[in-house]
Amino acid sequence: MSSRLDLFIDRMVSQRACLDYAISETAGMGGPIYELGLGNGRTYHHIRNRVTGRDILVFERAVASHPDSTPPPELTVLGEVTDTLPATLAQRGAVASLIHADLGGHNRAKNDAFARLISPLVEPLLAPGGLMVSSDRMYFDALEELPLPTGAVPERCFVYRRPAG
Ligand SMILES: C[S@@+](CC[C@H](N)C(=O)[O-])C[C@H]1O[C@@H](n2cnc3c(N)ncnc32)[C@H](O)[C@@H]1O
Repeated sequence: MSSRLDLFIDRMVSQRACLDYAISETAGMGGPIYELGLGNGRTYHHIRNRVTGRDILVFERAVASHPDSTPPPELTVLGEVTDTLPATLAQRGAVASLIHADLGGHNRAKNDAFARLISPLVEPLLAPGGLMVSSDRMYFDALEELPLPTGAVPERCFVYRRPAG
């Protein structure tokens, strides 16, 4: 049986593998990247280190990140994602080249319920050809689930794509 340490390590290794894959797959796209859940800012810092030429818009209810990993105010969307995702769709449309969601806590059932709730809010934000990486299984209608890249652990990370039209 996996220990909590095993699960944590698997999640971190999977996030990195899936983010690197998704960044590479969407490198030719110019639309912004949406980071849902800043937390300490580790994944934001990773994305920022590896991406040039695309804005990274961060969605968070309360910023409490490491100082090195804090996005500028003009690229921070403060509030509950259930409010801010629909507002962003109304303002910008389906432009995101990559969406990364790491919004969950320790309760798996709660994480799953929240993933079901926000899936229809996330889906329309993605541009054709764009990728979505999530720490929780999502429930999309039109996005296809992709095989995990090398290094990612099944069930610890999920990757989806909006078909290119
Ligand atoms: C697990 S942490 C993210 C960790 C981050 N990926 C990192 O590498 O440091 C989850 C974050 O999502 C935020 N969050 C959770 N639910 C949210 C919601 N409904 N609206 C906005 N932010 C939320 C929490 O405040 C928390 O900071």
